[in-house]
Amino acid sequence: MEKKALLYEGKAKKIYTTDVENIVWVSYKDSATAFNGEKKAEITGKGELNNEITSLLFQKLTDAGVKNHFIEKLSATEQLVKKVDIIPIEVVIRNSVAGSLSKRLGMDEGTELEKAIVEFYYKDDTLGDPLVTEDHIRVLKLATLEELQTLRTLGLCINNVLKEHFAQCNVRLVDFKVEFGKTSDGEIILADEISPDTCRLWDAETNQKLDKDVFRRDLGNVTDGYNEILKRLGGLSCTK
Ligand code: C5P
Repeated sequence: MEKKALLYEGKAKKIYTTDVENIVWVSYKDSATAFNGEKKAEITGKGELNNEITSLLFQKLTDAGVKNHFIEKLSATEQLVKKVDIIPIEVVIRNSVAGSLSKRLGMDEGTELEKAIVEFYYKDDTLGDPLVTEDHIRVLKLATLEELQTLRTLGLCINNVLKEHFAQCNVRLVDFKVEFGKTSDGEIILADEISPDTCRLWDAETNQKLDKDVFRRDLGNVTDGYNEILKRLGGLSCTK
């Protein structure tokens, strides 16, 4: 497979076309951003860690029957994925209160939710990715009601798989964001990445943060937590 033209450059990844139709080449960057790009840094090694962690988690989801774009990991920072048209809706699943939900509802961070919450955000940098309701999504024509139901069902299904998997690695999956895309034949599949950049991951015993909140909140060395997650997902301390 050959890497061809740069198709898109985002905050954390570059996407290239390949010589094969409907397959794209993803390259993970070391850039870290937060607060809609207001806070920026280069964190050496983050691209490798996210590529490795995302590859492991997408493989886990494939094994569990969740259709997704992942094909294979090519190198430390690169992977091949199926080309999709990304649906401009960020799907957030929450098992515990944290971050913006804590602020919005005035609830303490860490409060466990009896049932997982699903939220939709409009993926639009100029608007700051606002929280949107079903009616907003209808007005903006971002997805049909049926598609929205699919996103919700898939989001909860992904949560079931990942929550259990992380629990076995002694990690609490507090919340996470996923994105979906449509393949050339119109099927909705999981896309983008699932990594400590897009999840809140806490040590199950101490609640120590092992995710991007370390960067957002200046809590210390960012890659220490990411390395710990990688070790637990593939290393000796993971019982699976
Ligand atoms: O900030 P908030 O509490 O809404 O984030 C919920 C979850 O979604 C967190 O795990 C966060 O890392 C993730 N997220 C993301 N990209 C965004 C917004 C949130 O990965 N643009």
